[in-house]
Amino acid sequence: MQPLRSILSKIFPPSRTTVQAKWDESFTNRKRIPPWRGRKSLDACDRAMKTGWIPSQSRVLDLGCGEGMLAIRMAEVGQCIVHGVDISGKAIEIAHESRSKLHPSLQKLLTFGVLDVLSSEPIEATLHADFDVVLDVGCFHNFKKVKERRLVAEKMHKVLRPGGKWMLVVKAFRDNKSDRSAETQWRIEMIEAACAGLFSLSHFDEADLKGPHMTSEMPGLAFYLQKTPLL
Ligand SMILES: C[S@@+](CC[C@H](N)C(=O)[O-])C[C@H]1O[C@@H](n2cnc3c(N)ncnc32)[C@H](O)[C@@H]1O
Repeated sequence: MQPLRSILSKIFPPSRTTVQAKWDESFTNRKRIPPWRGRKSLDACDRAMKTGWIPSQSRVLDLGCGEGMLAIRMAEVGQCIVHGVDISGKAIEIAHESRSKLHPSLQKLLTFGVLDVLSSEPIEATLHADFDVVLDVGCFHNFKKVKERRLVAEKMHKVLRPGGKWMLVVKAFRDNKSDRSAETQWRIEMIEAACAGLFSLSHFDEADLKGPHMTSEMPGLAFYLQKTPLL
């Protein structure tokens, strides 16, 4: 049975300001380290660069960039030009702080800004539509409604250049009891439904998202999508 809180939030969805405040809190609460800080998602990102799926010097949009850890890694390792966006102003403040400590040659590859990807504003009002790659680690994952996932897929289609790619990493298999192939299939279907006519799934693999301070495992799945032309 669904917990009452989850049922209530479906009937009375939180405002965008409340959602933003919740994410801000996760970056300011000193008693709780954000579970994604320093985690192994860096490995998934490194792998994508090593295999050439994220080519060096790509123009990358880091969607839900948090504190900018992955954006900085892509600039350092792949000399990618990365724009990180996040709903949380606090996260972006921290990302700016980290950027300011880098060598100027890296600083010039990195920009960050506050953006709620679910806002009703057209994305082209804020971003140029010329990214080679969108990297999304743990952002899309939060969107529970079909229409939210579709909206994000439409926006990502708009900001990518023709032939652009979207690497989408989600938490998965958290319940050790789940049937892994059934859950994988369910997630593939969910992503393909959101991306129908916009992106095709080229492949997927498993991703370890465990952070250094975490005691339990955090497995995930990485999906590699290719933008398709609109018919
Ligand atoms: C699990 S964290 C991952 C952070 C970062 N990608 C990483 O792996 O270190 C999810 C991030 O998505 C951001 N986020 C959630 N909803 C968002 C939205 N509607 N628009 C933009 N960012 C969002 C959160 O603020 C948070 O930083």
